[in-house]
Amino acid sequence: MAGWKSLFPVDLAEESRLSRREFARFLALVSAGFTGGIGYLALRTKPLDGAPAPASQTPPDALRICRADDVTPGNSFLFTFRDAQDRCILVHTPQGAWKAYRQTCTHLGCAVRWDGRGLECPCHNGRFDVEQGFPTQGPPTRPLSALAVDVVDGEVWVRGDLPKPGGAA
Ligand code: FES
Repeated sequence: MAGWKSLFPVDLAEESRLSRREFARFLALVSAGFTGGIGYLALRTKPLDGAPAPASQTPPDALRICRADDVTPGNSFLFTFRDAQDRCILVHTPQGAWKAYRQTCTHLGCAVRWDGRGLECPCHNGRFDVEQGFPTQGPPTRPLSALAVDVVDGEVWVRGDLPKPGGAA
């Protein structure tokens, strides 16, 4: 017998059988834990049959912008939507409607702003109507990009892009 084997007299056949048994026990425990964990997560995310629906009617992809009380009629509120570069403007019109647009002017991209009567672009005196974002003055020829707005339980939410009015590109 080689030198190291005399120092560590291990019966390899016995060692192999024990390892397989231990490995099988380990696999069984891991499988049981994994199955239990998946089951727990499924129960947590899915309401049980007959459970009441969630109280909020807010769409899952909506972004809360502000409280409705924060923007009185005739005023606006600036926010970002998809990312920090996606600058948008929320307008609470004097008539009480809520409108939201991307701030990017469709002429050369300056930021439009609310002046109490409509949306103006200071770069080349462009103007857009607040109802649908159509250009009404100056060089812009395409409407602003509009966003869907919901007011739910006193909170203002933006849901995403509205189709361009009149099928404009
Ligand atoms: S960039 Fe807005 S009018 Fe020219």
